[in-house]
Amino acid sequence: LTKVKRPLQRSPSVLAGGIAALAGLGVLNFAAALWGGDRAWLMSLDLAADLAVLAAGLALVVILALRSQAQSEALDASHERLAAIVDSAMDAIITVDEEQNIVLFNRAAEEVFRCRREQVLGAPLDRFLPARFRGAHRNHIEHFGRTGITSRKMGDVTTLAALRADGSEEFPIEASISQASEGGKRYFTVILRDITRRKEAERVLNSQREELRVLSAQVLEAREEEKTRIARELHDELGQMLTAAKMDLSALRARLPAGESADRAARIGELLDQTVGSMRRISADLRPLMLDDLGLADAAAWLVEEFAKRSGIAVHFERPEEFDPGAIDRALANTVYRALQESLTNIARHAGAKQAWVLLGARNGALHLEVEDDGRGISPADLAKAKSLGLKGMRERVAYLGGALEIERAARGGTRLRLQVPIRSRAAP
Ligand SMILES: Nc1ncnc2c1ncn2[C@@H]1O[C@H](COP(=O)(O)OP(=O)(O)O)[C@@H](O)[C@H]1O
Ligand SMILES: [Mg+2]
Repeated sequence: LTKVKRPLQRSPSVLAGGIAALAGLGVLNFAAALWGGDRAWLMSLDLAADLAVLAAGLALVVILALRSQAQSEALDASHERLAAIVDSAMDAIITVDEEQNIVLFNRAAEEVFRCRREQVLGAPLDRFLPARFRGAHRNHIEHFGRTGITSRKMGDVTTLAALRADGSEEFPIEASISQASEGGKRYFTVILRDITRRKEAERVLNSQREELRVLSAQVLEAREEEKTRIARELHDELGQMLTAAKMDLSALRARLPAGESADRAARIGELLDQTVGSMRRISADLRPLMLDDLGLADAAAWLVEEFAKRSGIAVHFERPEEFDPGAIDRALANTVYRALQESLTNIARHAGAKQAWVLLGARNGALHLEVEDDGRGISPADLAKAKSLGLKGMRERVAYLGGALEIERAARGGTRLRLQVPIRSRAAP
């Protein structure tokens, strides 16, 4: 922190001056002893020189003493400043020597580990580590010492754990380590932070996210079930009644003479036919009963064909591998079918495409669906639209079934959606 000046007594000019003065004085004293008796001027010169060198020597000693005091005061002040910085740091700071005994323990460390520094100075660092990590940790520090790297983050991938001083509690930390040599000895300094609160917040957030995901998937599933029920009701109940009404009407018409009443009965017949048609369409939209009857692959083929007819977009449908539709769980078939329906609707509504490709297959125990178009493509902003729930719902349902969904710009420039869900058999609980 402070640059220490070279001590005055070792500066070459002072040394040379001192030696020269002493040598001169020696010669002068020798001369005075030989011839000084009868030469008074020589004696007084010698005396004056002796006194001058003595005074200079005394002055030097005083200056040296003053300087070394000033220096040690400056050093003390800089040590104090450093100690204050270390103590006011928010993070715990612990320094250990080569034997991994604690030599520095700041105030934050006292708080984190819940002990006083007097109790731990000189003690091994081990007491702050869970027992199972002690050996490995010692080796890590030794290895770090050999690398010669000055500092690095500890535990890049895993969460590190530390132990309170009384051994009562393990807690997660984030830490970095550095090393420095002083007086030929190596010291390691660990700066660490208790991240219990952050980990807890993360855990709560994750579990809430998971709950929300399950909830939204269940809402979607419940909606699906409700739709199925209405579709069945429409198809079975209403369908039968309409059929019965039509049969009665034709019996009636057979008995009616030609005229206004017969014309009216004929119009009722037409209306009944139209009603049957709308009912079928509505119930098929609510839930394609053929998904239950035909299975996923044929229902998908039907959907693609209908879509191509209505939209005028050329769709290439591929089902390379045969899989047993009977074995596929209903929620899974539903999810994939709805995903295909939503993708096709999106192509018609947003893509402005001329062609589309649909691929359905089973591979490595997972069901795969790919839908691609040659339209304008999709951007991340599109996917984030707050009011657009089609793709978000799809993602939730796929995640709920343990699958994955990717939506990206295809090589051909349009949009490509790829979905895979692990196959659950219908028998599975
Ligand atoms: N095939 C596609 N081509 C281009 N843009 C698309 C395509 N599919 C979806 N998008 C964009 O992504 C947005 C989100 O789609 P989606 O979640 O299905 O909601 P919605 O269809 O109700 O808008 C759409 O509004 C559209 O901008
Ligand atoms: Mg949509």
